[in-house]
Amino acid sequence: MEIKLSPSILSADFANLSRDVKTAVDAGAEYVHVDVMDGHFVPNITIGAPVVKALRKETDAVLDVHLMISDPDKYLDDFIAAGSDIITVHYESNGDTAGQLKKIRAAGVRAAVVIKPKTPVADIVPLLPLCDMVLVMTVEPGFGGQGFIPECMDKIRELRKAISDGGFPCELEIDGGAKLTNTADIVAAGADVIVAGSAVFGGDIADNVRKFHEVFRTGAERAEWVK
Ligand code: DX5
Ligand code: ZN
Repeated sequence: MEIKLSPSILSADFANLSRDVKTAVDAGAEYVHVDVMDGHFVPNITIGAPVVKALRKETDAVLDVHLMISDPDKYLDDFIAAGSDIITVHYESNGDTAGQLKKIRAAGVRAAVVIKPKTPVADIVPLLPLCDMVLVMTVEPGFGGQGFIPECMDKIRELRKAISDGGFPCELEIDGGAKLTNTADIVAAGADVIVAGSAVFGGDIADNVRKFHEVFRTGAERAEWVK
């Protein structure tokens, strides 16, 4: 299983966003994670579809767009048109999550659902056939730089098992608190896409990306024998 890194631009230098994204992608980051917050679903406001559109012109990297917004139905068209490669909707947002996933896929964009730390995995298992990726929040959404919630490790294992049992071609992403020090354990639990914000954009970006890939190689070997 190939493990992928999705650096969260929330911790990048917004005044030099293109430069920071290119540095991460040139160093080998497979995805670029874009955190969209509306100040309502979460207590913070970040960026919207115009920034996705601007990034689309700057990079061919996979734009992994995480919508932390109350009403995805109002904005899905904008994020599709902006050039998102993956759009992730919260199960806890308003509207019909299954319908949202179908709409994203019908537009030729990869569809994903995400759950907050307190939402049970069982709630989204019925949605797996509609998903190209599922995301487990490992911090409460809203801010970068928080600590990984240890109880979430079991949710990663549970979701990995549900994906394997059903034979779904669905990636399992985690988001929040991933560091070089805990990533091998996260990968061993079954995650195959790691979002990391502060641990990538804090300090030497290229060096951090390379170090995550080093950890993935070690972690991936361990993941083989925990299956
Ligand atoms: C949190 C965001 C995350 C965040 C991760 O609401 O969804 O993507 O930027 O940041 P770190 O890796 O610093 O926890
Ligand atoms: Zn995120």
